[in-house]
Amino acid sequence: MTAARPWPLGVDGIAYGGDYNPEQWPREVRLEDIDLMREAGVTLVSVAIFAWATLEPREGEYDFAWLDEVMDDLAGAGIKVALATATASPPPWLTRHHPEILPLTQDGTVLGQGGRQAYAVTSPLFREYALRMTRVMAERYGDHPALALWHVDNELGCHVPHDYSEHAAVAFRGWLERRYGTIEELNAAWGTAFWSQRYDSFHEILPPRAAPTYANPTQQLDFARFSSDELLTHYRALRDVLREVTPQIPATTNLMLSSATKWMDYFSWAEDLDLIANDHYLIAAEERGQIELALAADLARGVAGGDPWILMEHSTSAVNWQPRNRAKGRGEMLRNSLSHVARGADGIMFFQWRQSKAGAEKFHSAMVPHAGRDSDVWSNTVALGRALEALAPVHGSRVLSRVAIVVDYPSWWASELDSHPTQALRYNEELLRWYTAFWDLGISVDMVPTGTDLTGYELVLAPTLYTVRDQDADRLAEAARAGAQVVITFFSGIVDENDHVRLGGYPGAFRDLLGVRTEEFYPLLEGETLHLDDGTRADLWSEKTHLEGADAVRSWADGPLHGWPAVTRNPTGEGAAWYVAARPTADGLEALLTEIVAAAGVEPAVPGLHRDVEAVRRFAEDGTTYLFVLNHSDRDQVVQVSGREMLTGTDVEGAVTVHAGSAAVLQES
Ligand code: GAL
Repeated sequence: MTAARPWPLGVDGIAYGGDYNPEQWPREVRLEDIDLMREAGVTLVSVAIFAWATLEPREGEYDFAWLDEVMDDLAGAGIKVALATATASPPPWLTRHHPEILPLTQDGTVLGQGGRQAYAVTSPLFREYALRMTRVMAERYGDHPALALWHVDNELGCHVPHDYSEHAAVAFRGWLERRYGTIEELNAAWGTAFWSQRYDSFHEILPPRAAPTYANPTQQLDFARFSSDELLTHYRALRDVLREVTPQIPATTNLMLSSATKWMDYFSWAEDLDLIANDHYLIAAEERGQIELALAADLARGVAGGDPWILMEHSTSAVNWQPRNRAKGRGEMLRNSLSHVARGADGIMFFQWRQSKAGAEKFHSAMVPHAGRDSDVWSNTVALGRALEALAPVHGSRVLSRVAIVVDYPSWWASELDSHPTQALRYNEELLRWYTAFWDLGISVDMVPTGTDLTGYELVLAPTLYTVRDQDADRLAEAARAGAQVVITFFSGIVDENDHVRLGGYPGAFRDLLGVRTEEFYPLLEGETLHLDDGTRADLWSEKTHLEGADAVRSWADGPLHGWPAVTRNPTGEGAAWYVAARPTADGLEALLTEIVAAAGVEPAVPGLHRDVEAVRRFAEDGTTYLFVLNHSDRDQVVQVSGREMLTGTDVEGAVTVHAGSAAVLQES
């Protein structure tokens, strides 16, 4: 159970800090920063992320004086640095001399200088400049006592997940040649006999740029795979320079795991990151945003393979980029932070340390707000620092869940392509709906990629696993045979990895496991709902499903499929395989999941809590357990516990009240 991944050097306990952009401030402010960081208990800051143009104002001419000073000041204060490669945004001189490095959108628009991230990740020339800058940073600061971690680029793919430039076309062809070997193989995989799309050579292939109508779906799917791989390739190239110059320093890049980030298959990136770092921002308009936050945190833990990870960015209060940027409520910043810790984060950081005075993000909150020290935000910053200090023993402990949700980025990409039975299906909405149902039952889940050995879980859910390879489908069957309740939802197992339909009836890959055969989909129209025979309703989807060994658990109570099964269960080995061929509304879903959870014998961390009280446990190797209770509701919650409440340092026994909006962390005895 010991953490397998490296950790920022010299950072103990729970790391605390944020992005630090001293290039925006004069010396006297930077000196004050050091004092304030000490006051808040900051231990780790990310520096120089967007500093390329300041560090190299003209090609080949460097100005390191200010950064030398900042690094020395931080080292003097005992604060460690996640130092950036400074490559996240090319300086204007570079794009002026070499506009060919700029990215191109699908409809042919060149994305220009003046914002950030104005580069095509596939441009060999940009790569050369980025590698050079990375080497310069590594050679200058590799031995600096403040250096704890390399922060490669920044949120790779955030603004430009897909580039359609000529550079991208060349790289895409290379990627395809490596994948398929011959053009005949590609033609077969892409099904190019359709619509006269046959290619005679790889030279004819383009990225799926704007076309008169639907582009070849396999071309689109492969372009998504390629684009995720290219961003990773760029990371790897920079990381390799860092490894060569500073093999002792771990390297990472900040991911954007959330229910909204679609285009990077982070599971496939995990191996290349020494430790997993994630950025997460609450969506203010989301009434119960803490659930999506928890999903993102569980995903980060999943990508980390269960090892501790760092929350590299979130916000102390409002952001600047949503339509309406709500300030966080009382206790919210602490609860948000502790929810990440509860789900495996051993570092809590923010964008950013000091709120900017100028630039596009001046209205984005920070740890030091415009208002200064006399503010709620600053008090919260200091209070969080104290809380994390008190939680130092939690570092290295793990979350152990008995439920797994299989998450698959290629299925996300492919299930939402055009020309499908419905355009209203959103993979991430399905994920969040089921996740919410688990949350409401108080049950913690692991988010795992396909290919994981699932046999240790009591309950395994695969929502809309649209594209699946045989060996990955087998993993689900093995889990059922080993005793798990396996739940597969509609539009799963439909195609192989080339997006070719598995013939003979849906859901092709899972027909035998589920004991069903669907002959036709019956998607619902916008606003249309149908009744299920338990009195609840369902929307979006229905299908004509024959029972071939399974039992009906729910049937349609009206509509064209009246009397046909909507949810089925097929006993398999020691377990069972459930097919949810419907999309029940929230109440129906919760009722159904309650039955499934009962069959699996899975219990909540703490039974009987209000649904907006989050309770998650972390387990240490020495047998100690840490119970996080976060009360997101507007009512006080009494919890039966005994042990030591770590935030207040008091011993507790029996009934403990966690006040509305507040949090408790129990070291249980
Ligand atoms: C992130 C980014 C930060 C900052 C932040 C604002 O996407 O990495 O640099 O822009 O968003 O929320």
